[in-house]
Amino acid sequence: MSGISYKSGRVPHAKEHRVVFRNIDRVGWDSSIATYLGEGGYEQLKKALALPKQEIIDEVKKAGLRGRGGAGFPCGVKWGFIPPTNTKPVYLICNADESEPGTFKDRYILHQDPHQLIEGMAIACFAVGANLSYIYIREEFPEAAKIVEKAIAEAHEKGFLGKNIQGSGFDLEIYVHRGAGAYICGEETGLIESLEGKRPYPRIKPPYFPAAMGLYLCPTIVNNVETLCHVKHILEIGADAWAKTGTPNNTGTRILCVSGDVQKPGYYEVEVGKVTMGEVINEMCGGLKPGRELKAVIPGGSSAKVLRADEVFTVGRGDDARQLTIWDIPMDFDTLAACGSMAGSGGVIVIDDSRSISWVLNNINNFYAHESCGQCTPCREGSLWMKKITDRVVAGKASPSDIDTLYGVAKNIDGRTICAFGEACSWPTESFVEKFRDELVSDTRPELEGAIVNAETLTAAAGL
Ligand SMILES: Cc1cc2nc3c(=O)[nH]c(=O)nc-3n(C[C@H](O)[C@H](O)[C@H](O)COP(=O)(O)O)c2cc1C
Ligand code: SF4
Repeated sequence: MSGISYKSGRVPHAKEHRVVFRNIDRVGWDSSIATYLGEGGYEQLKKALALPKQEIIDEVKKAGLRGRGGAGFPCGVKWGFIPPTNTKPVYLICNADESEPGTFKDRYILHQDPHQLIEGMAIACFAVGANLSYIYIREEFPEAAKIVEKAIAEAHEKGFLGKNIQGSGFDLEIYVHRGAGAYICGEETGLIESLEGKRPYPRIKPPYFPAAMGLYLCPTIVNNVETLCHVKHILEIGADAWAKTGTPNNTGTRILCVSGDVQKPGYYEVEVGKVTMGEVINEMCGGLKPGRELKAVIPGGSSAKVLRADEVFTVGRGDDARQLTIWDIPMDFDTLAACGSMAGSGGVIVIDDSRSISWVLNNINNFYAHESCGQCTPCREGSLWMKKITDRVVAGKASPSDIDTLYGVAKNIDGRTICAFGEACSWPTESFVEKFRDELVSDTRPELEGAIVNAETLTAAAGL
């Protein structure tokens, strides 16, 4: 990226490969359509409108683009789920809720490159046959909502949205819908309920897979902001060339959001699987803080299972089996899953040895207890119980057996709920207890074992 300068003065690391973030923070770049058109904007939409719809879907399938919102589901395959016999309207929703703690990538696209998203959405809408589309933006991004609304108006004015786009006969309207600040509105069926004007109670799958029974019970494609941006680039260079970046089954680039105990936290767009955790932390992020050691990493947003710094991970099977330290893990969907965690939303949270594990887990548990929609009992009650127990651990008011209770509560949520929030809230506790039991227990007080904890017993235990 020579010759390009950046407003923040922060030049992309040599191991970055910027595609979706190519223009983010660039001097000379702004969110206007004039700037976008000046650099070849909307050319891929024009190209797409002349292609058979199925060819676009096949191209996205061939590229192997996996969803960047959390689950890593293949995008083209999802598009292909719309029943061929469908006669109902089809909708496409861009999930701009970006609520997973540790994740901060979509907001940059919304703020600085909204036309890239609109072009990707328009191509996607054309391919799946949607004439009406929504961008669901979380309440906490009011500025982003205004910028995207302005960009939509500009695209309308230039004939890239509205009726008979570029004389193709294709009509498309995109509306911005502002959320009201609930994490569960990022879950696609909760989001759909919210868009319908209801409480965001997630729907049970099956039968409510959005591609078959989504918005107003019509086929609906829900994709993340970053995923939809990639669609334009796949068309631009072709699926084969696009899939040459990244690694097999983990193609393309993705934006890692690194936070926590590193010298240079921030966003880094990398080829999926081409950089290791060690390269991300030690090279791209400038290493840990002086004098500190790595304790753990949560690799894919706060709901991903924690990886301990001294673990040895066995990945692959049979002759392909190999052992990896945390530093060797390639940052891709499959390897992180094989290591027992997930790439999730790309939020890499680095924890050094200055952090109390009890405090970290309690912080996470407070978030999930607050965000449970309350629809199913294990999640509603369990997330609160987990928070209450870790509140007690942090306050020095827990007994060692509380850690077993904590683990039991998590295990009884996992797999027993309507939506994947159940896993999102129980996996942190499960993995922290499995991997840091000793430290959690060391923050408890054996003398409180079996005691009814109240002001009196605490005073007595403290010897006062
Ligand atoms: C509790 C919960 C919260 C979620 N939050 C988000 C979110 O903020 N943004 C997002 O894109 N996906 C989020 N997802 C994933 C969405 O349900 C959905 O899988 C995703 O938007 C699909 O897009 P993709 O295939 O492009 O990744 C969340 C999932 C769960 C279970
Ligand atoms: S798992 Fe939690 S967030 Fe999901 S539907 Fe049940 S109560 Fe709501």
